[in-house]
Amino acid sequence: LKKVRTRHFQSAKENGIKITGLTSYDQLSAAIFDKAGIDFLLVGDSAGNNVLGFDTTLPVTIDELIPLTRAVAGAVSRAFVVADMPFGSYESGPEEALHTAFRFMKETHAHAVKLEGGARSAEQIRRIVSAGIPVMAHIGFTPQSEHGLGGHIIQGRGEGLQQLLADAHAVEDAGAFSVVLEMVPASAAAQVTRELRIPTIGVGAGPDVDGQLMVWTDWAGFTTGRIPKFVKQYANLSGILSDAVDAYRADVANGAYPAPEHNYE
Ligand code: KIV
Ligand code: NA
Repeated sequence: LKKVRTRHFQSAKENGIKITGLTSYDQLSAAIFDKAGIDFLLVGDSAGNNVLGFDTTLPVTIDELIPLTRAVAGAVSRAFVVADMPFGSYESGPEEALHTAFRFMKETHAHAVKLEGGARSAEQIRRIVSAGIPVMAHIGFTPQSEHGLGGHIIQGRGEGLQQLLADAHAVEDAGAFSVVLEMVPASAAAQVTRELRIPTIGVGAGPDVDGQLMVWTDWAGFTTGRIPKFVKQYANLSGILSDAVDAYRADVANGAYPAPEHNYE
């Protein structure tokens, strides 16, 4: 089983083969996704509002993401594992960014890092890449700057298209091996994808991109409350677990569990 490398991202784009990605935060899901042939797993700071109990990604720290990233990297044999750099761990400058990237690479065995921001993060990307660490960029809607952007707002619309294109070119020129486009109009994502040499990975960016990424807990039907329009639910794991726990509780209450076959003599 050939490990996925950055060159496979590039050749997928050149050959028109779609790249598949999911987030993962633990060994159980990582092993299943890897076995199924998902090309890359992002240990996203979306762990903040999916496993760590926060409302947003902003409070998430490096120390919280490291054990999750290590668990995912340790569970895969083929998939490419990307460590997400949390808010406050790279914005101060290229040296801070490189220091954070080194921590993820040394302490988790991830294969690449991801950070948010286009032109504003170009120097950080350049510095990390110069140390031999692949960088996945992330432009369009960037959740870590939710407050600066004024909410969960679609980016790259109208006047925003020029900014999106400038950011896309800035991260490519800085050496990113791929770029996530989050919550942008399909036509804008298509234009970015045509203009760039590196592959684009869409999260709510329509079909004309080089690959797709989804937050696995949204995708598997765990998320309660408002789910974004671009999410397609492929399972209802929350319903399955609720049914299971109802059955277990009832069995224990009425003595159906444990049955004779579960007992040691
Ligand atoms: O943290 C995350 O899951 C992400 C993706 C949604 C792009 O950054
Ligand atoms: Na993220």
